[in-house]
Amino acid sequence: MDPEGMSDREWHQVMGAMDDVGPYYERVNWLITFGMVDRWRKRVASFAGPDDVVLEIGSGPGNFTKHLRSKTVFALEPSSELSDISKKILDPERVMLFKGVGEKIPLADSSVDKVFCVFSFRDFFDRKAGADEMIRVLRDGGEVFIVDMAKPPPGPLAKMLELHVRHMVPPLTRLAVPSVARERWSRDPYRTFVDTYEAYGSTKVYEDLLERTGFDDVSTEYLELRGATMTRGKKPRKSTC
Ligand SMILES: C[S@@+](CC[C@H](N)C(=O)[O-])C[C@H]1O[C@@H](n2cnc3c(N)ncnc32)[C@H](O)[C@@H]1O
Repeated sequence: MDPEGMSDREWHQVMGAMDDVGPYYERVNWLITFGMVDRWRKRVASFAGPDDVVLEIGSGPGNFTKHLRSKTVFALEPSSELSDISKKILDPERVMLFKGVGEKIPLADSSVDKVFCVFSFRDFFDRKAGADEMIRVLRDGGEVFIVDMAKPPPGPLAKMLELHVRHMVPPLTRLAVPSVARERWSRDPYRTFVDTYEAYGSTKVYEDLLERTGFDDVSTEYLELRGATMTRGKKPRKSTC
């Protein structure tokens, strides 16, 4: 794994880990973010208006999707298991679920207003291809929002978060997931989570990638308590002169 993506074998390991943790996913998220995860999601979802056509990439069990109030939402997810979980909580009138990956989005050019990637960009096997696809499907002036666990530049906060992810996340997971479920795991899925966190570089890497792809006004802000960040960018409007 590296800041740009991962090999096919590593990606399948990540996907296997997601499926393993599926039924306990939100309980674990709540515990490892000290209850903040849904507050972060709600704040990010508030950037989409009711009339925006929205694409969420990596919708998983639908925990972010459910907060979107837009009338048209496309939710793209490679795992059928996670997508099935999301069907129980999403409104089929507004949300269209698609099986697929962010590196090959099954939507037309310039067809959406907002793209959201919430805790999923880190799991892409080819992040540059994903960013190219995001800019392709966005209309001119449309926006992308990438949310991930915070990865600040080297310093005390970075050290604290790294220690949390490396030394607190695995034991907290063991607390949240019943032993009968854990016994079925061939590898602790949260070890894979630690691997992807350590490999993804920093929010600066995400910013550079969006800029290289052609996005304008790229910026990053911390979400509450500084445990997560939101990196955003705009697809430039074509000049009319
Ligand atoms: C940590 S979950 C995030 C789920 C949800 N967005 C949330 O807020 O809880 C990451 C999701 O990204 C999906 N994913 C992994 N690789 C992907 C890819 N290449 N393209 C799109 N989604 C991907 C996983 O299947 C998983 O559902």
